[in-house]
Amino acid sequence: MAEGADTLALLEHAAWATLVQALANPAHPYRNLTLATVDGDGHPHARLLVLREVDTSRRVLEFHTDTRSPKWVELMGRPRLSVLGYDPVERLQLRLRGTAQLYPPGSDANAFAWSKLSAWTRTTYCGGPPGDSLAHPEPGSARSNPPSEEETEVGRERFGVIEFQAMTLDWFEHKRGQVRRAVFQYSESGSLADSSWIAP
Ligand SMILES: Cc1cc2nc3c(=O)[nH]c(=O)nc-3n(C[C@H](O)[C@H](O)[C@H](O)COP(=O)(O)O)c2cc1C
Repeated sequence: MAEGADTLALLEHAAWATLVQALANPAHPYRNLTLATVDGDGHPHARLLVLREVDTSRRVLEFHTDTRSPKWVELMGRPRLSVLGYDPVERLQLRLRGTAQLYPPGSDANAFAWSKLSAWTRTTYCGGPPGDSLAHPEPGSARSNPPSEEETEVGRERFGVIEFQAMTLDWFEHKRGQVRRAVFQYSESGSLADSSWIAP
């Protein structure tokens, strides 16, 4: 470990603790993270996804998506992800790089995640394939009672879980008078293997 390893370890720990905080706060800047994939032609694609679970000891993040979406197909071909978040108050960018493990319908991890979704969230997966053309935006639901289990059952077969395993964290703080950048490496099991300050 580099000089100042204690400080680095604290910063790294704090970064993951902040990701955990985002789970409980829809307004938290890291609640929606940017996930970037690469398609079969090498073109990058970035989009926001809601952060659903964090396992700090394994350095794993969980996201949910529709298995009919381009991102799912891209990850099946190349299970590599860049995940980016920015906290404008702390002026801190977290940029993670790692691998994606996909849990399609029928897997235990998928069934567990589906069982925890609210009826309203399940309806996200009940519409047409993401990206299909529409004559007009779908109207918002005027109903006040949640849909039944039976009504949302069709979504179960389209629901996908993305488990992101971090390999590196690029930590960049952009404060007035102090710009700091550090990089952290993780082992395959997610333990912190190395850390160092690098030039911003
Ligand atoms: C605030 C916000 C949160 C979003 N959360 C998700 C999400 O959790 N899962 C998801 O599949 N798409 C989510 N989306 C939509 C994606 O950003 C993206 O536009 C969509 O999934 C299509 O992506 P793709 O064509 O690259 O597969 C979200 C969009 C916004 C604006």
